[in-house]
Order: sequence, then C-alpha cells, then structure tokens
Amino acid sequence: MICFDNVSKIYSASPGAVSGAIVSAKKPLRRGKVASSGKPALSNISFSLQQGSFNFITGHSGAGKSTLLRLLAGLERPSSGEIYFENNALHLLKDSRLTGIRENMGIVFQDNQLLYDRSVFDNVALPLIISRRRKREIIDRVTAALKRVGLADRADAMPEVLSGGEQQRVGIARAVVNRPRVLLADEPTGNLDPGMSHDILRLFRHFNAAGVTVIIATHDLTLLETRHHNRLVLKNGQLHSGGPVPDQTNGQRPANAAASTTTQWVAEPVNGAPDYVD
Ligand SMILES: Nc1ncnc2c1ncn2[C@@H]1O[C@H](COP(=O)(O)OP(=O)(O)O)[C@@H](O)[C@H]1O
Ligand SMILES: [Mg+2]
Repeated sequence: MICFDNVSKIYSASPGAVSGAIVSAKKPLRRGKVASSGKPALSNISFSLQQGSFNFITGHSGAGKSTLLRLLAGLERPSSGEIYFENNALHLLKDSRLTGIRENMGIVFQDNQLLYDRSVFDNVALPLIISRRRKREIIDRVTAALKRVGLADRADAMPEVLSGGEQQRVGIARAVVNRPRVLLADEPTGNLDPGMSHDILRLFRHFNAAGVTVIIATHDLTLLETRHHNRLVLKNGQLHSGGPVPDQTNGQRPANAAASTTTQWVAEPVNGAPDYVD
C-alpha cells in the first residue's frame, strides 16, 4: 500500500527554512537528482507498509521522522528514490494530483493546528468544505467524527476553552472526517501528559481496528505498547531497523527483524472501506 524505494531527501539550503514546519509542496527536483549541498535529512530509505497496519516511526529529534511523513503526504518531494501510495507514484505526480491523493490521508499535528476563531464543529468541517461536500453530509459526518473522539457535546465550543487533550481530539476528528484510508500523526502526543497520551493512542487503535492504516512519528518510546505494531527506527536520516513487533513480547523484536535497509513489514491487511465515522 505504501512503499519507499531508496528514498533520499536533502533540503535545499533556503534561508529562513523552519525545521519541522509543515510547508507547502515545493517545486519538484528532477527525479534521480540530489541537491548538491547539505546533509541528507533521509538517506536511501526503503520499506513497505501494508493496508490496515499500525506503525510507529521513532528516532531522536532531527532523525528525519517528520520529513518521512511529509514525503508520504506529498508535502515534500524526494531528492531521489521512489514513493508509492496505492499504486500512485507520488514522486512523479503533479502538485494538483498530489492534493487529490492527500484527500485519502488524514494528518494529525503535534500542535493540532486548529483555527482558534472557529468553533470545534467548523474546525472539523474544514476538510469537507474544501472537498465541497453537501451541507447535510457535512453535518452528519462532523457529528459522527466528534462522537467518535468523545466530543459530541463540545461542537459549539471554541477551541481555546478545551483542554490540550480535547484540542488534540478535535484535530483527530478533523483528520478522520473525510474517512481517509491512512492516518499520519506527527508527534501527536508531544504536548500532552502521559494519561492523555494513552487516550489519544487508544483512539488511533480504534481507527486502525476499523481498517485505517496508522503511522505515528514519535520520539516518546513510552507510547509503544506491547500490542501488535510495526516500528521503523530512524537514526541520522538512516533506517536503523524496522520490523514487526508481535503481541506480548514486551517490545522485543524477533531475531529476523534485525537492521536492514529494505524491510518488508508484515501487518495483517484489513479489507473493506473504513466505516469509522458513520
Ligand atoms: N524545511 C527544512 N529545511 C531544511 N532542513 C530541514 C527542514 N526540515 C527538516 N530539516 C532538517 O532535516 C533533518 C530531519 O528533520 P526532521 O525530519 O524534522 O526530524 P525529526 O522529525 O525526526 O525531528 C534535520 O537535520 C532538520 O534540521
Ligand atoms: Mg519531527
């Protein structure tokens, strides 16, 4: 479903570039050509993920986690290598096509990126308004998404009166309201205390159980539970290790999941369209 083949990313040294910021897609570099200056944010990364899998990307700050997610979301272009999402060659697509493909992806940010002058309902409705859904459908879907994240009674509230955990749940409702097949989360619990973090993780588990592929970038290893998931470890932009973590192993990886540049992850696929918001 998702495949990175020998992907490298070197940011062009533009003054004022902000590390970690989500920026709009830049002009594509020519395929196969690596910009000449700067240290690679990612080097020769290869892996594949199956539909319905639950995945963590871990690594120290600056390891390349956000870059990997941005490449996957088509918000950045690879400097070299190939990226596939459901048979779409993202590295070859025009920006306009990438925008369409991104409708299949829900994205959750550490700082939730809510609009503070709009109600909770309006924040969650935003992706549906952008994709020009009908009013009735917007009302139904937003109501269902808010119910799923436990905020059905806060639809009319303004974000600033909510707790940090509640605000993050609004961000998650907004990410799933378009019924994406993939949920990408960049440090989704970075601003939350451990109790709230685990509530948020449970929500991701819930969507995953409905068939959604989940990919969470985090440097917080306490989030990694013993339940089944895949883990991709980045170190200085390189894939250090990855592979399946089976149930009840207390986080120990099997011997056959040793360091490898090409990792075929083996999560069980879940068939059928996600039906988690209605
Ligand atoms: N927009 C950018 N412009 C230039 N360099 C960047 C940009 N974003 C990230 N980097 C650099 O790429 C490397 C990986 O960063 P990032 O993907 O944000 O790592 P992580 O999310 O693991 O902290 C770092 O060295 C960072 O400084
Ligand atoms: Mg990051």
